Amino acid sequence: MAETIQHELQLARRMSRLGTETAFEVLNKARALERQGKSIVHLEIGEPDFDTPLNVIDAGVDALRKGWTHYGPSAGLPDLRQALAEYVSRTRGMKVAPDEVVVVPGGKPIIFFTILALVDDGDEVIYPNPGFPIYESMIHYVGGRAVPVHLKEERDFSLDVDELAALITDRTRLIILNSPQNPTGGVLERGDIEQIAKVIGDRNIMVLSDEIYSRLLFDGGQHFSIMSVPGMQERTILLDGFSKTYAMTGWRMGYGVMRPDLAAHVTRLMTNSNSCTASFTQVAGIEAITGDQSSVDHMRDEFQRRRDMFVAGLNKIKGFSCRMPKGAFYTFPNITETGWPSKKLADAILQEAGVACLSGTAFGDYGEGYLRFSVANSLENLNKALDRIQQWTVKNL
Ligand SMILES: Cc1ncc(COP(=O)(O)O)c(C=O)c1O
Repeated sequence: MAETIQHELQLARRMSRLGTETAFEVLNKARALERQGKSIVHLEIGEPDFDTPLNVIDAGVDALRKGWTHYGPSAGLPDLRQALAEYVSRTRGMKVAPDEVVVVPGGKPIIFFTILALVDDGDEVIYPNPGFPIYESMIHYVGGRAVPVHLKEERDFSLDVDELAALITDRTRLIILNSPQNPTGGVLERGDIEQIAKVIGDRNIMVLSDEIYSRLLFDGGQHFSIMSVPGMQERTILLDGFSKTYAMTGWRMGYGVMRPDLAAHVTRLMTNSNSCTASFTQVAGIEAITGDQSSVDHMRDEFQRRRDMFVAGLNKIKGFSCRMPKGAFYTFPNITETGWPSKKLADAILQEAGVACLSGTAFGDYGEGYLRFSVANSLENLNKALDRIQQWTVKNL
């Protein structure tokens, strides 16, 4: 019998530049601990703990029964693109046409496709740090130069426009904004956004505006998009989606709004990668965006209650201090007073206290000194997590 040869895996060089999203790794680690019989409170993953609203589930089931089980157009079903164009026109106060909307499986593909379509080798991309890790990962993957703009706690993690201005060069191709922000809960106010547009001026720089948490603003805050600043529409790619707003993370559906010529290229990337977003999912998406919105308000109010309780609790724990996030469903406490590095502390809290959270460094180098806890869990579990961390710090600090 012939001897079997062990072939070495020869990966393309670019794979060494691709990062990841640590939340999924921590979730796996936490699940492994649960299999060993340990009790874990899950505050690591960024997804609503609520079920998808019933009217949306019914629309999806009905669509399956009616035969929405085939391929659809790569850019999305015309009725959904129309509904999204109307929704974005209404919520962002500008005119958007259906051919400017591309429906994709989640918000993430808009990040992937935008960077793939716009960023060449050596092009500079300015992105928030700490920030959603996929930005930096994708910039590196395509050979771009990742230029971090440091979001600082003393500014409530809103971006410093002067610092952004100083980072813009002739090589800047793209600026990524994210508001409300993951992981800090920071929000860009209208004045800041108008200043950012001013700083960009007439330059041919594109902006990827990640607005996936646009409906999760607390204390009556109003969302404002750079796309609605006069002159910015054709240079903005607006990312939004269904995952966070309608508790639809597993349905995989999001969308980008962009000038039609770019939309055609992003659609070509869809044809090359996914063919289309699942058809029955999109039919449910029409119900989500045009149907009863009361569940969205209910979820936001509930997240606000949990945020208030959890931040107050964190601020009572030795070595922790936490600002009040203005949006999204994360808290981002400063833990420098514990004397522990973020990653080591997150690991210890998981292993020894049974609370899964993320190290701030999962969101870039400027996340050192912080942890991220999602408040997308019940008040009871959030209280349990606070008790466990409190007891752990008493023993260990
Ligand atoms: C800032 C940000 N953008 C995009 C996404 C991706 O969302 P989706 O699950 O719809 O791909 C997330 C998810 O965590 C996020 O936090």
